Amino acid sequence: MATERSNEPIGVFDSGIGGLTVVAALQRLLPSENIFYLGDTARVPYGGKSRRTVERYSIEIGGLLLAERAKVIVVACNTASALAVPRMKEIFKVPVQGVVTPGAQAAAKSTLIGKVGVVGTRATISSGAYEHAINSINPGIQVLSAACPLLVPLIEEGMFDDDVTKIMLSRYLGPMLKAGIDTLVLGCTHYPLLRNTIAEVAGPHVTLVDSAENCALAVKRLLADAGIAASPRRLGGLNVALTDATEGFLRSAAQALELEIGDVALRSVQSEEGNPA
Ligand code: DGL
Repeated sequence: MATERSNEPIGVFDSGIGGLTVVAALQRLLPSENIFYLGDTARVPYGGKSRRTVERYSIEIGGLLLAERAKVIVVACNTASALAVPRMKEIFKVPVQGVVTPGAQAAAKSTLIGKVGVVGTRATISSGAYEHAINSINPGIQVLSAACPLLVPLIEEGMFDDDVTKIMLSRYLGPMLKAGIDTLVLGCTHYPLLRNTIAEVAGPHVTLVDSAENCALAVKRLLADAGIAASPRRLGGLNVALTDATEGFLRSAAQALELEIGDVALRSVQSEEGNPA
């Protein structure tokens, strides 16, 4: 049964535009839900920053999403999920859903030979969050990780199918492919935009686990369990806000994901120091 909370939006955030891959997955799975998306484009990238800074940014944005009456906070950024979700869960009263746990669960289920590769930003990989989450499901799974710092800039340049991107992918994935992984976690919300190219480089024997799809499934379960899912008779909508105007990549990502993005609002996040970010 739909309650008053049911009509409130799902609050989603990412360091930038990559989290729109999670929005696209949420819209496919939960078409009745309203979604408010905040891309922290003024402070992207998070992937090379410290835990302390990523936690601070994430908590500030969580506050902004609550001011938008979010009934749940979806951390559509692997870096923020890996570094800040535990602290956010302590602070916020609404449920907080990150992308790492659902991705780890899907990877543990997918591997037949117990060898999983994980790719992500430097901060995500050095946090060990995926390794920890996968091994807490099954300690027998070998996790091979690679930080891929050049992929986000290549994606933001729209070089989805470019030779340079393929060369970098071969270099990043080479050791784990040689080691014989059968499952690869796309541990960064930008990477689903490169899905076809990654599949080409990884080859037909490697199953790709998309953190966006699996996060959307986890949100669906969470809303149902908490009794706060929107009425299925309703048609949901999407509001997008950014902390800095970066329309170029926003439009190309939206086009690649077939998302309808209307007017984009600009928001400033109040930092702990009291200065707008
Ligand atoms: N969206 C971020 C992630 O999923 C990648 C971009 C960044 O470094 O901020 O990790």
